[in-house]
Amino acid sequence: MTAPVTYSRDGDIAAICIDNPPVNAMGADVRAALVSAFEEFSADSAARIAVLYGTGRTFVAGADIREFGKTPKEPLLPDLINRIEALDKPVLCVMHGSTLGGGLELAMGAHVRLGLPGLKLGLPETSLGILPGAGGTQRLPRLAGMEAALEMIVSARHVGAEEARALGILDALADEGAEPLAAGREMAARLLSEGVALRRTCDLPAPEIMAEKLAEIRAYAVKRYPGQIAQLTAIDAAIEGAALPFHDGVKHERRLFMRLIESPQRAALIHAFFAERKVAQLPELAGIIPRPHGQIGVIGGGRMGSGIAVAALLAGLDVTLIERDAEAAAIAQAAVAQTLGESVKRGKLSKDKRAHILSESFRAAHDHAALAECDVVIEAVFEDMEIKRDVFRALDQHCRPGAVLATNTSYLEIPQIAAATSRPADVLGLHFFSPAHVMRLLEIVVPEGTAPDTVATGFALGKKLRKVSVRAGVCDGFIGNRILQVYRAAADHMVLAGASPYQVDQAVTGFGFPMGPYAVQDLAGLDIGYMTRQRKAATRDSREFVPRWGDVMHERGWYGRKTQQGYYSYGPDHPRGAPSAEVEEIIAAERAERGVTPRSFTDEEIIARYMAAMVNEAAKVVGEGIAARPLDVDVTLLHGYGFPRCRGGPMHWADTQGLESLLHQIEGFQNEDAYFWQAAPLLQELVAKGATFASLNET
Ligand code: CAA
Repeated sequence: MTAPVTYSRDGDIAAICIDNPPVNAMGADVRAALVSAFEEFSADSAARIAVLYGTGRTFVAGADIREFGKTPKEPLLPDLINRIEALDKPVLCVMHGSTLGGGLELAMGAHVRLGLPGLKLGLPETSLGILPGAGGTQRLPRLAGMEAALEMIVSARHVGAEEARALGILDALADEGAEPLAAGREMAARLLSEGVALRRTCDLPAPEIMAEKLAEIRAYAVKRYPGQIAQLTAIDAAIEGAALPFHDGVKHERRLFMRLIESPQRAALIHAFFAERKVAQLPELAGIIPRPHGQIGVIGGGRMGSGIAVAALLAGLDVTLIERDAEAAAIAQAAVAQTLGESVKRGKLSKDKRAHILSESFRAAHDHAALAECDVVIEAVFEDMEIKRDVFRALDQHCRPGAVLATNTSYLEIPQIAAATSRPADVLGLHFFSPAHVMRLLEIVVPEGTAPDTVATGFALGKKLRKVSVRAGVCDGFIGNRILQVYRAAADHMVLAGASPYQVDQAVTGFGFPMGPYAVQDLAGLDIGYMTRQRKAATRDSREFVPRWGDVMHERGWYGRKTQQGYYSYGPDHPRGAPSAEVEEIIAAERAERGVTPRSFTDEEIIARYMAAMVNEAAKVVGEGIAARPLDVDVTLLHGYGFPRCRGGPMHWADTQGLESLLHQIEGFQNEDAYFWQAAPLLQELVAKGATFASLNET
């Protein structure tokens, strides 16, 4: 193994190089090696300045996140940075790639900072449930001003090189194409010849902020990150620290940092960080080379199809969209052009790029023959088996051998769709979430018999589209919608028993979901739920409780937001919806018909049942192999269903509650409905072994 840090000198310019792939994270060994390298620099009388830089794609992406939660190992990062800053010879830090967290804190302890074009820097610690704990809350305000620093820390935003220069974080910006060491040496030589002053960030005056601005930033943190503690604690660290002498401020920051390190939110957010990366690491895909996936076909130009087309176009892919006739193709063309226009308005795309995409990379047609050259074709037509099978017959006829044929179905049997072709090994499900160019989740649904390189292509395409891709097996609803159906049913059980839909929604948003299950149904359309109930009616077990109030609402033409009336009433005075007395009456009538005497629920009881139903079904999904590991469920619920990130996902949350008590609760609920509350065999097995869901993530 090569040393993670090396010291060298050329003339009077020393170079200290960090080489710890893949992202130069600063674990204990890197920190120790940096201490030695700087000691060598200090003792090297021929060295007048040091260039600190990193190899590979980034300078330093931060502290090593894997160390958080373990006993801290010396040397600690704040001490290392203080020592560098205190040197009596200048250190020039060259930043490139993603310079984040402890990486930027290290750079701020240097005396001069040079950025390379393409640099993205930031202090994203709050997104991991911690705060910049190596002087970041004290040095960034001194360089960039308190307001800009707090905005960066709270939003965890990555700032581009030009902006960082304008904010005063960078002293200079290298030319396009510059290499870290060469650019650093060139600047160091210039500084030596001009006579470099030793500017220590800690000596700069502590900045102030107007009380109103501070209140605004705090209010933003509360609204944008409800229930999260890291953002507000980071603001406190910066403000309270700035009132103290610099090194006392750093010590105060450290105390608050250690408090956050101990918090369950930190554990949950870091679990989410690694789970998002692990979902795509499947043993079955090791060494499998994906097929080409640069040319995409999309069948269907509705909301989903056009969203998928936009997602692919924004990722730089070539897209051919097929509609049933010329008129529908023109409508789809206009929908895609409009969505790309919205991306221009939001600053995500330049006007020129949009024009280029529309003229060169996108076309809408109505003849399947236009798909002849496509590498991957994604079908997004109406959810009807016969329509989909017709589409796949046509694809079989027109697509080139080896093309991947994907369906965006939400619940239909993919093997039946695949059987309409002569090449089922090339077929899989790519289940996007609406709007497809915004939502990050992609379920990659793998029927038996799909070729491994078809699956690998799905994951490679997901990566190109910047999606979080999760492998799912075939069942009704795959991972996410299957679990959703069950926790929604748990909510219906509680409403029948006496809770109001509004109390359920309130309890669920209080837990951290952005919306409750009834507000979500209004948004999606109550007609969707109605169709699902109809579809399942023939095969439903007679013991299953299905509320009739949804059908009554449907008969009245109440489809949710789109008709201004669903569980909530919508109007100019209450655009987000107001509780409806009529809905309560419909529900009360059903309780009376079924002979149910309503009882009251506390919010805690609501959450206990809602979460128990979610975790229990999730355990069945993992136990049956529909999800590869518990972490795949966590990522699905986090990215597709609004599960609060600071709780890590339902399986992580369940571990924190204790599986035994959860199972005990489920067994208690069986008195109310033994059919609904059947405990998952996997949950029983883990409890018997005294194991956790996390123990299954290591595979
Ligand atoms: N510590 C440990 N491992 C890290 C890491 C870190 N800070 N950052 C990235 N990695 C790992 C990833 O887990 C991944 O590992 P695997 O290949 O084994 O899955 C690998 O490095 C590559 O990462 P990505 O797949 O994410 O690569 P990317 O090119 O898509 O993104 C990145 C690169 C932008 C740097 C992204 O990895 C990232 O955002 N990393 C986290 C940065 C961060 O939050 N830094 C702050 C750390 S906290 C801190 O520094 C606290 C402090 O104040 C003391």
